[in-house]
Amino acid sequence: MLKYLVVYASESGNTKKIADEIFYALPSDSKEEINVRSWNGRHDAETYFIGFWANRGTCSLEIIDLISSLHKKNVAFFGTCGLGNDAEYYKLLEKSAVLWLADDNFFIGSYFCQGSMPALIREKYETYRDRLPDSDFNRMMTIIDEGQKHPDKQDLLKANVFTDTAIHKIQNNDEYSRLKNII
Ligand SMILES: Cc1cc2nc3c(=O)[nH]c(=O)nc-3n(C[C@H](O)[C@H](O)[C@H](O)COP(=O)(O)O)c2cc1C
Repeated sequence: MLKYLVVYASESGNTKKIADEIFYALPSDSKEEINVRSWNGRHDAETYFIGFWANRGTCSLEIIDLISSLHKKNVAFFGTCGLGNDAEYYKLLEKSAVLWLADDNFFIGSYFCQGSMPALIREKYETYRDRLPDSDFNRMMTIIDEGQKHPDKQDLLKANVFTDTAIHKIQNNDEYSRLKNII
């Protein structure tokens, strides 16, 4: 069994950039990184870093299938979304994934950042111009345009730090479980 498995869903490459950085930051040779489309249940690891992009406020069915299948694993989530840079929204994305995670797993935490939106989605949002007050519409478009620069170097650095923190949490939890068994 592998020590770490990074599994991601990414249509336009944003989430893959974060997956690559997490994979790079993992301090072991016992690791693999795969697209969720190649995941077939035969890959197994002690720790899963599962990445997805926000799709209508949640993750895809392939990711839900993967999350629901896990038991007695360490699990962290990561991902990108167009309406980012908002801690509350990131919390909602985390919740939408944690919902599918069985209680016998150790949930480590999550890391989300903003990602660029495909031009087609930006065009769709353009059609809201007449339906929204100017200030709301302009704010939304500013956020979307800001997203075009992401994930940037800073986002990748944060993903790296998140990975490091996650590994420490796992080590602490393993130690706690070991002591619990002795006492
Ligand atoms: C069909 C579709 C639905 C989306 N829904 C959301 C959404 O609900 N919330 C959000 O913040 N971004 C949404 N986005 C934007 C993507 O989450 C964002 O562009 C993400 O970084 C794409 O990641 P990827 O490059 O790894 O595929 C949506 C994009 C598409 C194409």
